[in-house]
Amino acid sequence: TLWTTAIVAALGVSFISYSIYREANPKKQIPQSSTFPNGSKRKTLIILGSGWGSITLLKSLDTTLYNVIVVSPRNHFLFTPLLPSTPVGTVEMKSIIEPVRSVARRCPGEVHYYEAEASDIDPVNKKITVLPVSSPNSTAIELDYDYLVVGVGAQSNTFGIPGVYENASFLKEISDAQEIRQKIMASIENAISLPQGSEERKRLLSYVVVGGGPTGVEFAAELKDYIDEDLNKWVPGISKEITVTLVEALPNILNMFDKSLVQYAEELFRKEKVELQLKSMVQKVDSTKVTMKCDNNEIKELPYGLLVWATGNGQRQVTKDLMAKVDKQDSRRGLLINEKLQLLGHEDSIFAIGDCTFHPGLVPTAEVAHQEGEYLADQFKHLYKLDQVKYEISTTKDSSKLTSLNNKLTKLENSADDFKFVHRGALAYLGREKAIADLSFGNSKYTSSGSFTFLFWRFAYLSMCISFRNRYLIFMDWVKMNILGRNSSV
Ligand code: FAD
Ligand code: NAI
Repeated sequence: TLWTTAIVAALGVSFISYSIYREANPKKQIPQSSTFPNGSKRKTLIILGSGWGSITLLKSLDTTLYNVIVVSPRNHFLFTPLLPSTPVGTVEMKSIIEPVRSVARRCPGEVHYYEAEASDIDPVNKKITVLPVSSPNSTAIELDYDYLVVGVGAQSNTFGIPGVYENASFLKEISDAQEIRQKIMASIENAISLPQGSEERKRLLSYVVVGGGPTGVEFAAELKDYIDEDLNKWVPGISKEITVTLVEALPNILNMFDKSLVQYAEELFRKEKVELQLKSMVQKVDSTKVTMKCDNNEIKELPYGLLVWATGNGQRQVTKDLMAKVDKQDSRRGLLINEKLQLLGHEDSIFAIGDCTFHPGLVPTAEVAHQEGEYLADQFKHLYKLDQVKYEISTTKDSSKLTSLNNKLTKLENSADDFKFVHRGALAYLGREKAIADLSFGNSKYTSSGSFTFLFWRFAYLSMCISFRNRYLIFMDWVKMNILGRNSSV
């Protein structure tokens, strides 16, 4: 038994070391070309976006089977589950991003990347127009595709509430985290120079988060940790005056979690003095205050020095334009797809995944986008086989071979699986090293909360990272934070 354990351990260590070596030293790639050795066309697959759906697809795809082109204005993948940790420095911003080029370079077949935004999709002529983002004077480029995967995600929704875009910060991208960090620092420095008890000082030190979904809750929790554990040491006078208020239109926060976990979260927030302003719908925002309609139709004003807006997703312009062009796309909530993630109306050539889609039973989460990306990678292998058989049929004159090829084609056409989402659960960090977990194992559900769940939360997020580099940096940030505290400069 000892020998077996030693051999298994040695094999495990060798495998991990080899994987890490391969991540840092990618192999040579098979170059793109217009045809395969048998003369058939190598089809062009364009993937829009570099988020959870698109990057998972790219990582799992056999890129030797297609000419793969990735188009995304964001040159990195962003590990969104830890984005709320970055404005306050629990985790560094660089630790949760992975360059698209690194992911592309590790693929077996060459991948072309355009740092550009798809501005138009022409589904009839199978063309997209892209606008490079790196140069302000760049001209639009047209790209032809055989297959297109739309994974452009969503943008923060403001529901058209006046003043939100102009005054609030969002929490979707690394640049948002940077902006929030700067605003926190500026509010503290400006408040310090004002007399204690003044209205302006109170306003500057009032931090307001709108939206009691997981984004708002996790950010409010991280903010409170930062105030109590770090600012408390470095600017003790000021830190006691800072207030954190979470505004939510519904009667409770974290609506998608089990009721017992919601109760736990609300009690913990009250205990840790995160002010919960429930049943309050923000209706207007200006540069110094939010105006909200509360219970009993009472109108209340809440001055703020920092305003973070986290009220969910809205569709991007490129998604809305595509919906407008296709007859079958009559939902305003996102691109309608079938069980094979094909776009209704253009099933033969366009697929859509992640937050830009709408499908009953699928919520806009990383978990869904990730599983959709993995599923599509398998689908493209299947499609390649189908295309190869079709090519052989078109070039074969032998009638007996033709019959067997036709049988093979029918078999292949009937063997494609539908996408099945496996919900493993949801996790959320609540501050003070406590978290909640709403887990599913088959038909059974399991909920847990507290410090042990926090350790599970950390372990789960480390395991979800897309590279060893991310995993290592995040782990080291946590160690660093526990020893030295958070970095409280911009
Ligand atoms: P995204 O990951 O948003 O990626 C979209 C990509 O498309 C981006 O690269 C973008 O630059 C690109 N793009 C945009 N416009 C264009 C264009 N015109 N042309 C080409 N490319 C374009 N989910 C969980 O399951 N668990 C969590 O813990 C969790 N935490 C979260 C925390 C935060 C703060 C946020 C904001 C979200 C969180 N989510 C979480 C939700 C999760 O991040 C999303 O559901 C997921 O990112 C969706 O993946 P996606 O690929 O559809 O879109
Ligand atoms: P959300 O849609 O989950 O929550 C937004 C909240 O804002 C809602 O509770 C809504 O009632 C509230 N709201 C809307 N308008 C308002 C107004 N005018 N005034 C006050 N409150 C208002 O949005 P969120 O948190 O951005 O999440 C988006 C998606 O990402 C969700 O699917 C979520 O599950 C996922 N996500 C998951 C995480 C996790 O699993 N830990 C973390 C973050 C996001």
